[in-house]
Parts: sequence; structure tokens; C-alpha cells
Amino acid sequence: MPNHMFAFNALLYSSFLICITGLVYRIATWFVLSIGIQGKKASIHRRITAASIAFFRVLFSLNVLKLLQAFVIDIVFQRRLFVKAGFARWLAHLLIFYGFLSLLFLHALDAVITQRLFSDYYSTLNPFLFLRDFFGALVLSGLAIAVGRRVVSTHRRIRTTRMDAYAIVIVAFIVFSGIFLEGLAMTSHSEFERMLSDYAGLYDEEEIKALEAFWVENFALVSPAVQTPVNAELLAQGAEVNETYCISCHVSNKWGFWGYSAAKGIRPFALWLDQAGGVAVCWYIHIVGCFLGLALLPFSKMFHMVSVPVSMSVSAVRNPDRSSPENLATIEAMELDACTHCGVCSQTCSAAMMSEVMGNEYIRRRRK
Ligand code: HEC
Repeated sequence: MPNHMFAFNALLYSSFLICITGLVYRIATWFVLSIGIQGKKASIHRRITAASIAFFRVLFSLNVLKLLQAFVIDIVFQRRLFVKAGFARWLAHLLIFYGFLSLLFLHALDAVITQRLFSDYYSTLNPFLFLRDFFGALVLSGLAIAVGRRVVSTHRRIRTTRMDAYAIVIVAFIVFSGIFLEGLAMTSHSEFERMLSDYAGLYDEEEIKALEAFWVENFALVSPAVQTPVNAELLAQGAEVNETYCISCHVSNKWGFWGYSAAKGIRPFALWLDQAGGVAVCWYIHIVGCFLGLALLPFSKMFHMVSVPVSMSVSAVRNPDRSSPENLATIEAMELDACTHCGVCSQTCSAAMMSEVMGNEYIRRRRK
């Protein structure tokens, strides 16, 4: 529907614009703020020039190999997190990050990426249907560790800030609303009818009834017309109709195991939800969650996806004795910005006891 598309595009472009503006703003602060005495005299212009020169110097020297090494070890495999924060946090981080990234490419950007890579792509065929739910499972396992660790941990210096809670909530919201949407679409009788008229053009009432019964029995569809249990003869006929018209694009919905389980749970309210336009509403809820996450990325803890890799790359190639005062000022501002208040530093810090007594809870407070 055109007005649907308009609302979608308006949401997409505005959240994208907010995200880009925010990223530029946050990155610009690295060149504006000065923490120590080094940057006091350096103008923003000189700091940007010094950083650009240093960047190209690294790019065209053997240091680029160090950059590559840092990328693989510290960014792809997140070794430093493993060493400093321990196995559980490393695993949670990896599961959430790679699960979400895979969902982004395979599912959210399917029209731009997956469809181009696989000419026979349909979200309702395998391996895509299974993978979507599998990646969802990775993210949820990561979230479960992240939440569980917070519940179990008794370490008083590791705190859950509002930002940590936001990061968990927004990811969970996106995944759960997606699962609910998938399940609701599976139960939806109006979706079934739309597909029927788009792909089958069936007029024989008997055949329609058989197909519907088959989908109720095997694909979690909820229909006002079909009484369960369905008799075996009707099911066999339905399987044949399904094979003719639907099987080229649909593996069993059971492969979408989250959605299928959700569909089973929704079952008692499915007809009512379908009549109320539930699929469209849930679709918007899911999309708004995704766009909200995108728009708030630069202003939330999620910004560490940008700041931490950049700051790790810089620390891999910099020579502390030779950095210019301009670059030192920029690096300090950037490194403080990359702090996620994870608490690992204060866990082993000998001065942290004092800070607990004196009440400076984040020792390295951002933009102090
Ligand atoms: C050309 C491929 C294609 C064919 C043929 C096809 N479908 Fe679909 N169907 C899809 C895609 C893709 C989706 C998910 C996206 C969407 O809603 O458009 C879908 C979604 C559905 C849904 C919503 C829930 C879900 O499982 O995702 C139902 C129900 C459905 N189809 C039933 C059928 C039936 C019944 C037939 C056979 C008459 C059929 N489809 C034939 C591609 C197809």
C-alpha cells in the first residue's frame, strides 16, 4: 500500500539521518574535547590535520599489518574482552554481536543483500527460514547470559547502568517482536487467503478446504473453517495441493522454530488478532523497534560498536613516545569516549576502594 510505504520510508530515512548526524557529532567531539594539558593549545583544525596525516602514514607503512592483526584478533575475535572480562562476558558479547549482525544481513537487508547473493531466495525456504530463527537463538542466548550474569554476580564494582539496561532491552525488544510477528503471520488466515489468491488461483472449494486443513495441521495456521483433528483423507489431498502450489516457496513452518512455538501460544487469540490487523500492527512495532535502535545508536552504549574498534586500532599502531600533542589530545578524548563503564578496570584497581569511599563511582568519568 502506498501510504504504508510512505510511513515506512519516512521512518527509515529519519532514523538513518538521526543516526548519521549523531555519529558525526560523537566523532567530532574527539577532535574538540581535550582532557589533559596537551590539547589545550591545539586548534580543532590542527588536530584533524594531524590525525589525517597519522592515518595515511599508517596506511602506507608496514604498520598496516599491525592494524590487520588488531582487526582479526581484537575486533573479530574480541580477544581483549576474553582476557580482561572473562569467558561469560566474551561469549555473551560474541553471541549478541554476531547473531544480530547475521540477522541484519540475512533478514533485515534481505532485499539488498540475500536476494542478490541467492537468486532462489525466499524467506520461507531453507536454509533461510531456519537460519533466521537460529540467529535469533544466538542473540537470545547472549542476552540470557548478559542478564543471568547480572543477576548472579555479586561483584559490587560491576554495576548495571541505565545504558546497560537500555542496550539489553532494545535488542530483546527487536528479537521478541520479530518472533511474535513471525508466529502471528503463521497463524494468520488473511495471509493465507492473500497467498491463495496470489499463487494458487484455486476455485475448487474442496481443494481449498483440503489445503487449508493441511496448513492448519502442519503450518500452525488458524482457520475459522477447519475443525481439528482433520481427517487423514483430507490431509492427503491437502498435501497434494500444497505440493502443486505452495511447496516451491514454503518449507514446513516448523523450521522457523521460534515463530512456530509463538504461533502455538498465540493460537487461542489468533483469529481475533488477525481480524484486528495484528500482522500489520506487529510489523510496525518490530520496525519501529529496529529504527529506534538505529536512531539511538550514537547516543547510547551501542556507540561502542564504533568507538571501541577505532580506539583499539589506534592503540595497536600508535607509538606513545612519538605521538604529537595534537594526536595525544584526540586519542585521550577518543579513548574516554570508548569507555562503556563495564567496570573491568575498577575490578582490579587498587585505588578503587578509595573511589568507593569518596563516591566517584566511575573513576574514569566520560568527559570529566
Ligand atoms: C513465490 C513464492 C511463494 C509461493 C508460491 C507461496 N508463498 Fe506463501 N509466502 C511467500 C513469502 C516470501 C512469504 C513471507 C513474506 C510475505 O508475507 O510476503 C509467504 C508467507 C505466507 C504466509 C504467512 C505466514 C508465513 O508462513 O510466513 C502464509 C500463510 C502463506 N505464505 C501461505 C501460502 C500458501 C497456502 C501458498 C500456496 C497456495 C503459498 N503461500 C505460496 C512466498 C510464497
